[in-house]
Amino acid sequence: MSELRYQRCINPDCGATFGVGESHFACPKCGDLLDVCYDWDRLEVPDSLSWFGKRWATRNNPLDFSGVWRFRELLPFCGDEHRVTVGEGQTILQRNDEVAKYVGSNAGRVHLEYEGCNPSGSFKDNGMTAAFSHAMMVGAKHCACASTGNTSASVALYAHACGMKCTVFIGSGRIAFGKLSQALDYGAQTIQIVGDFDDCMRRVKEVCKDLGLYLVNSLNPFRLEGQKTIMYRILEGLGWQVPDWIVVPGGNLGNSSAFGKAFYELKQLGLIDRIPRLAVINATGANTLYDLYEKKGLRFVADRIDGKEVDAYYGRLNETGYRPHTVATAIEISRPVNLTKCLRALAICDGVVREVSDEDIIDAKAVVGRYGLGCEPASAASIAGLKLLRTEGVIGADETVACVLTGHQLKDPKVTVDYHMEKGREFSNKPVEVANDIEQIIRVMKG
Ligand code: F0G
Repeated sequence: MSELRYQRCINPDCGATFGVGESHFACPKCGDLLDVCYDWDRLEVPDSLSWFGKRWATRNNPLDFSGVWRFRELLPFCGDEHRVTVGEGQTILQRNDEVAKYVGSNAGRVHLEYEGCNPSGSFKDNGMTAAFSHAMMVGAKHCACASTGNTSASVALYAHACGMKCTVFIGSGRIAFGKLSQALDYGAQTIQIVGDFDDCMRRVKEVCKDLGLYLVNSLNPFRLEGQKTIMYRILEGLGWQVPDWIVVPGGNLGNSSAFGKAFYELKQLGLIDRIPRLAVINATGANTLYDLYEKKGLRFVADRIDGKEVDAYYGRLNETGYRPHTVATAIEISRPVNLTKCLRALAICDGVVREVSDEDIIDAKAVVGRYGLGCEPASAASIAGLKLLRTEGVIGADETVACVLTGHQLKDPKVTVDYHMEKGREFSNKPVEVANDIEQIIRVMKG
């Protein structure tokens, strides 16, 4: 009898399968990405999504409290005995009419999925709880990742929760201080190399191979299983209704890949009747996906992409010594490891990709700060992207949109303070210096 749960290479010419008890972060046969697959017909899955709402009544059970594991029937790759949780996924889907006004949508149509409420302050915890559960299942002792910051913070937190050693690789000077402080505080061995995220990613893959470490970047297919639950919580926040659009920033493209898989599976299981459209937003200074998808027309067709086109693109990046650069350091990535899976998600969700400038990102961030729960720069790319798509008329004013705010406002306070200190920014809120004198203070306060 075939396995209920297994890993499968996404390359249709290979399609090799492996047990979930193995840990490979590339197909050992052909080097492509792996998926976690389930034989849904033989697994017990509730027949409606609203069934999961019942878990609120038993939330004193940590797995029912977790915003990831209360959906565990939809990511059933391990048993409860291996499931790790630190209380992730207590997120908020906020209807935000001020942001709707800013982007040109009708009231009641724009919702912000605030992932900053996670224990380490970003969406990464959704993925790490799943990856570390798998790591526990395979008996890993030492894990590693490359990071623009949030992954390292989340990995460090889960590693110490599991009693596991952890090493994080970060590019020198390319990490926001809030994130670096977390990795240090949570006790990660932090290796800063001269280079950017793409350099770190290459090194960490080599190190994991040479030293047999457990890799927790989003190449890890189990991580993406956890990130599917961001979509389940958006549906839950909308009373189990499917929105018209999901808008998400794109960096290493793990989220977008996971979201496409989530909706594909829900549709397959008959738990939703339609799939929302997906908009992935790059920063202009790190726009590989935008270039390949929108400019070069690269598509996922017949289960594959044109690898030669991608190799040629990366070849040109190498030749010109291109380095990505954006204020949204979290998404400053030019060789996204999940490119193929993201293109698959764009095919599943009839998706679009856009690029937005740093200026637009920081203005959008200030709007989320003023009227919402705040967010870090990369997260605001989703709002800037929505605004652009509204201007273009690709997204209608009356369409329901959920934007994923991927990280907490305090992750990168420097960008926020710099913005507000600068006069002339559309939403800047500069502090006023006043002498220590009550009359002068009152005069300033009365304006
Ligand atoms: N937003 C934030 C706040 C992030 O930290 C990241 C990725 C993304 C968006 C992009 O998500 O990779 O799924 O497309 N940060 C990674 C890191 C790369 O190392 O923390 P993606």
